Amino acid sequence: MIQLPGLIDPHVHLREPGGTHKEDWDTGTQAALAGGFTMVLAMPNTQPPVMDAESLKACSTLAAQKARCDYGLYLGASQAPLSAGDLAALAPDAAGLKMYLNHTFGPLLLEDMSLWMHYFEHTPKNMPIATHAEGHTLAAVILMAQLYKRPLHLCHVSRRDEILVIREAKEKGIPITCEVTPHHLFLTEEDLPRIGNARGQVRPDLNTKADQQALWENIDVIDCFATDHAPHTLGEKDGPKPPPGFPGLETALPLLLTAAAEGRLTIEQIISRCYTNPRRIFHLPEQAETRVEIDPLAKWEIKAANTFTRCGWTPFEGMQVQGKVTRITLRGKIAYQDGRILAEPGYGMNIRKN
Ligand code: DOR
Ligand code: ZN
Ligand code: ZN
Repeated sequence: MIQLPGLIDPHVHLREPGGTHKEDWDTGTQAALAGGFTMVLAMPNTQPPVMDAESLKACSTLAAQKARCDYGLYLGASQAPLSAGDLAALAPDAAGLKMYLNHTFGPLLLEDMSLWMHYFEHTPKNMPIATHAEGHTLAAVILMAQLYKRPLHLCHVSRRDEILVIREAKEKGIPITCEVTPHHLFLTEEDLPRIGNARGQVRPDLNTKADQQALWENIDVIDCFATDHAPHTLGEKDGPKPPPGFPGLETALPLLLTAAAEGRLTIEQIISRCYTNPRRIFHLPEQAETRVEIDPLAKWEIKAANTFTRCGWTPFEGMQVQGKVTRITLRGKIAYQDGRILAEPGYGMNIRKN
């Protein structure tokens, strides 16, 4: 048996409000617990998006009723920029500010760099900023972190050139941190024939073997593993306009533990990237009496049929993994044991309350 702290996923899409046929606060937090996560930070590209006081309040009410693990809510940076006063007023209630700088799922997108400047100037320094920025956009937003001398977290880094730029920027003292998803660590474009081109749509795309290898070679530069759990139903994925995104909450830790069993990763690296670093970067509270118990020897096969997410599929279908969550204690109560969710809806707490 191995004991881990309650793991933190700083990047999930739980789809409520507006997309509850894909996932909601109940099923999404069940998936989190089944995957060994006791805290998730939820992205704002819901319908409507979380982007002002009213939408933040509405989402937080839903989460409070239904979440089974602890959670925080991102505030989305919208094109109608929030004032410095609004940002300061909302900062204590939000996990962070999310800026979408490339096209992806949902309406939140900031193309005009003067808007980026607005948010970098007026977002309180202690409010984490996380950004979806790919390729040249990533280099451009790193400049903002340097210009405004404030921390910036780069979501789902997936390419060789990106991780090399990040390494260089960190070495020059620019205050950036970054995360990588399990799907970019464990899948490449060579998996697309098996997954199917439509189902395999995800932003950032699955990339080349060389990109994947560069992520592993630069694992010391990667601060967090984050699932970017982005459930869409099979009907949607197999339909005429497949939306991008993979579910990931229930497969991340088993994949990472399998890499650990193979000697490609250490348990300490999993703990720093799924607990210590996200806690520091996002100023997250300690969860007292919280632990995740693992059977590191259990071998099993990933099957969508055995998952809690509502979306009903996984790009890792059929993969053999080693390492299984056996029990989770969350704030003194058993929240998960041997495949059963024991935490009730509403047990989860908003990490920004008090
Ligand atoms: O593949 C993705 N899906 N990438 C994103 O940036 C958004 C996400 C979603 O919300 O579906
Ligand atoms: Zn994204
Ligand atoms: Zn995302």
